[in-house]
Amino acid sequence: MSQPEYGENFDQAVDWLCTADQIVVLTGAGISAASGIATFRDANGLWKRFPADEFANWKGLLQVAILQPKRLAEFLLAVLQPIAQATPNAAHQAIHRLVQMKPVAVITQNVDGLHQDAGEINVHEIHGNLLEIVTIPGNTLVKKLSRNDLQCVVDDLEKLLTQVWPGAQLLKTISPLLGTSHGTFHRPNLVLFGDQLAEPAWANAKNAVQSCDVLLAVGTSQSVYTEVSLIDEARSSGVKVVVIDPEVMNGDLWLSGTAEFLLPPLIDAVRQKAG
Ligand code: OAD
Repeated sequence: MSQPEYGENFDQAVDWLCTADQIVVLTGAGISAASGIATFRDANGLWKRFPADEFANWKGLLQVAILQPKRLAEFLLAVLQPIAQATPNAAHQAIHRLVQMKPVAVITQNVDGLHQDAGEINVHEIHGNLLEIVTIPGNTLVKKLSRNDLQCVVDDLEKLLTQVWPGAQLLKTISPLLGTSHGTFHRPNLVLFGDQLAEPAWANAKNAVQSCDVLLAVGTSQSVYTEVSLIDEARSSGVKVVVIDPEVMNGDLWLSGTAEFLLPPLIDAVRQKAG
């Protein structure tokens, strides 16, 4: 049955998803917007408040830490607080339902771990995961933080912001994320600009794209190399690309709207049609 309230391309997307043998779902910041996590490049995006050339690479962050520790504390609070308090929204839950229904590989650029919180699924996290703490060097997993652990760091950062020059205290406050333990350095498992993409997630992501029939791109601005190259790779191999985004339409089929509005009925319609 046609569902015009979801736009003219909705039924076509249902058909493609139903008949696909292998599906890739590629998610970006937009899917977590309804969970309270700001995107990067929208009007109130993170990079609008904290420019990417200063805050999206380790060298820039070190400079800010030395010269403007209070500004760094503000940035960390802006990143950590929403993730500490986030829960999966209807879009994450819909993707989990799709994974239970069909062969699906989920690739995400998000570091918030919300896909996994929506249900037991394997996710290729090509930009890493903020809640995983790894060694420097070596990237060996040291521990997984809970959202409560993150909230404790957030609470301490809030107290720190009442100080004029939080310098040395800042290092102590963020030590669960970045610091030393048992004689080794540790940091969050994050890919910043200039870093290699996370492995084996990136190799797995490329393999998944090469063997899928439909790629569903959700809430990505398609302005970062990783997402652009995966979508280009898909299109050049004849994969059908469906885009769900309120603004970006670079695909074979555009469903214009938010992920939390469109994904639940889309996946329900796939389930109904597949019987
Ligand atoms: P962006 O912030 O660049 O783009 C977010 C996209 O989500 C935009 O296309 C919005 O139109 C869309 N959007 C906003 N709200 C939405 C909603 N409720 N439902 C669906 N879509 C919505 O984020 P990404 O493309 O994910 O990398 O950017 C990826 C990378 O940019 C991040 O991983 C990060 C950043 O620089 C690094 O730091 C290395």
